[in-house]
Amino acid sequence: MNVAGIPYRTIWLDQEDAGVVKIIDQRYLPHRFIVESLSTPDQMARAITDMHVRGAGLIGAAAGFGMYLASLTADRSSLDSFMVDMARSAEMLIATRPTAVNLSWAVQRILDGISASGASVEDKIAICLDSAHAIADEDADFCRRIGRHGAEIITGISNSKAGATVNILTHCNAGWLAFVDYGTATSPIYTAFGQGIDVHVWVDETRPRNQGASLTAWELQQQGIPYTVIVDNAGGHLMQHGMVDLVITGSDRTTFTGDVANKIGTYLKALAARDNGIPFYVALPSSTFDWTVRDGVRDIPIEQRDGEEVRYIEGLAEDRLTSVLITPQNSPVANYAFDVTPARLVTGLITERGICPASEEGTLSLFPEHRGTV
Ligand code: MRU
Repeated sequence: MNVAGIPYRTIWLDQEDAGVVKIIDQRYLPHRFIVESLSTPDQMARAITDMHVRGAGLIGAAAGFGMYLASLTADRSSLDSFMVDMARSAEMLIATRPTAVNLSWAVQRILDGISASGASVEDKIAICLDSAHAIADEDADFCRRIGRHGAEIITGISNSKAGATVNILTHCNAGWLAFVDYGTATSPIYTAFGQGIDVHVWVDETRPRNQGASLTAWELQQQGIPYTVIVDNAGGHLMQHGMVDLVITGSDRTTFTGDVANKIGTYLKALAARDNGIPFYVALPSSTFDWTVRDGVRDIPIEQRDGEEVRYIEGLAEDRLTSVLITPQNSPVANYAFDVTPARLVTGLITERGICPASEEGTLSLFPEHRGTV
């Protein structure tokens, strides 16, 4: 997507130094646009844990490039010692964040690649780099396709309203900043807007890290799309008063049965949408499906993050990024980062292959290669 007219992805290999991976450090958005250089797998792991990069697709791509950086620093004295080092880096990267499945999927894809082929260390390094690029390119391509499929839903609603504004509510940031490009929940919005459909987006602020208020709002502003930031608890009220036509969120992990793990608070939006007869769609690339988990509520691991994220709120004061305490000093807090929306509340899943019902039959109809393995 463009930032001040310049096209950017969220992660890329430095053109001048193939030992350096560049990322947009999202901790500073929307106030500063800072590009960070990473040259070791440890730096990449830290960037994922501390959320310089975040969002399911992007942390998958980041883990891919992290494995490439690991291959550059791994022991080259023998193939065996190289593979031992790679396995150690894989473990470190996978441990950074537990809920989004894209991360372990990307790491495993690279491990499988270098286990199956590469006669020399140099060959295996080349496989790591090709795979990291392939993961990033695929992510961008899949998100672009999600945009085309999802835009049909928005167009349908626009037609049914005789071209009046389509009001879409989204939670957290499932935009291009959460992926390599385009995003998932935002991609249909970008496509529909590009086709001349009149859209307006309600952006949940998404406490505690405010990815909606700081990232989604910034993205939409960059693209010139009308939006309004709302507090997390406003969605139900807006839905009751006919001010929301459609909800689209992203996902960090979706079971093959259609249960959706996404940013904390998504479940409550789905409940309110169901109560008000509003379609609730989830947009995701195939790398976000977990084909091993049937019951998402029971079996998807939910990340719990540092309580300081709840006790403090961060913002710009007198041109400086500042944290402000909003609870009593040392207040006990709980910081569950994700929740699971059961499939029964999801109207449909928007994927790169099309839209399907949130059910085992639905996901297998689009991804028949998983029949017999789930
Ligand atoms: O904790 P984050 O910012 O990495 O959470 C990811 C999200 O933004 C998701 O909730 C999003 O909707 C799907 S992941 C692209």
